[in-house]
Amino acid sequence: MDDWFLKAHEFLYLKEEEGSDEETRFLVAALGLQEGSRVLDAPCAAGRIGVRLAHAGCQVTGVDINRRFLLLARQRFGEEGVSGSFCVMDLRRLAFRPAFDAAINWWSSFGYFSDAENLQVLQGMAAALRPGGCVAIEQPNRQWVLRRFVPGLEYGPWRLLSRWDAARERMESTWVLEEAGELKVYPMSMRWYTLTQLRRLFRRAGLVPEAAYGAYDGSPYRPSSLRLILIGRKPE
Ligand SMILES: C[S@@+](CC[C@H](N)C(=O)[O-])C[C@H]1O[C@@H](n2cnc3c(N)ncnc32)[C@H](O)[C@@H]1O
Repeated sequence: MDDWFLKAHEFLYLKEEEGSDEETRFLVAALGLQEGSRVLDAPCAAGRIGVRLAHAGCQVTGVDINRRFLLLARQRFGEEGVSGSFCVMDLRRLAFRPAFDAAINWWSSFGYFSDAENLQVLQGMAAALRPGGCVAIEQPNRQWVLRRFVPGLEYGPWRLLSRWDAARERMESTWVLEEAGELKVYPMSMRWYTLTQLRRLFRRAGLVPEAAYGAYDGSPYRPSSLRLILIGRKPE
């Protein structure tokens, strides 16, 4: 599979700060995080959520494949006076001892790879958890997106062209931006799981699926929800 995820534009990876506090409050509540909870933020990008979890008292380890993002994350943690640790790592090859209370894959960061590799990501997260620890995966809810599907959209200076590949159950997108008089093209390919499929993937990774949510306000998942958030637990 093409490694589009290594070539994506930074804009597509760095979410705006607005709404981030609500997302963090959701995670703290849904994962039962407390002062001292050890959290694996995979991938962490520039530490948007990780830094907030650190302010909430968590011991955060952030991983990402992008060294620049990790530098930004380290810098932000330093500037805000919280500690965290960071390492460059491919999501498909997470290598941690089973010590974390929680592992999160947050904001549309799941489903970048083949089904077998997406399972590897989940297995790596599960392996990093202590028995009884929790995982949170967050994706767009494909049922919501497909019901309103628009193949061409404008986002400020960006043009987004999308196609749903029904056979592979992937959203194939192309982000187009005019940069310095040149048209630059950034492809994206994301496997969007249904809730049933994601629960099955959790079980295959040795996780027990628990609550499913549809928004950062903690409302339960419904087919009409904007997001699909699934929490799973490693058995004791
Ligand atoms: C949507 S952003 C993550 C956002 C972050 N979780 C948040 O909530 O703000 C996706 C991240 O995945 C990282 N990434 C892409 N492919 C990766 C891979 N194979 N291994 C590790 N990180 C990867 C990108 O560098 C990017 O920082």
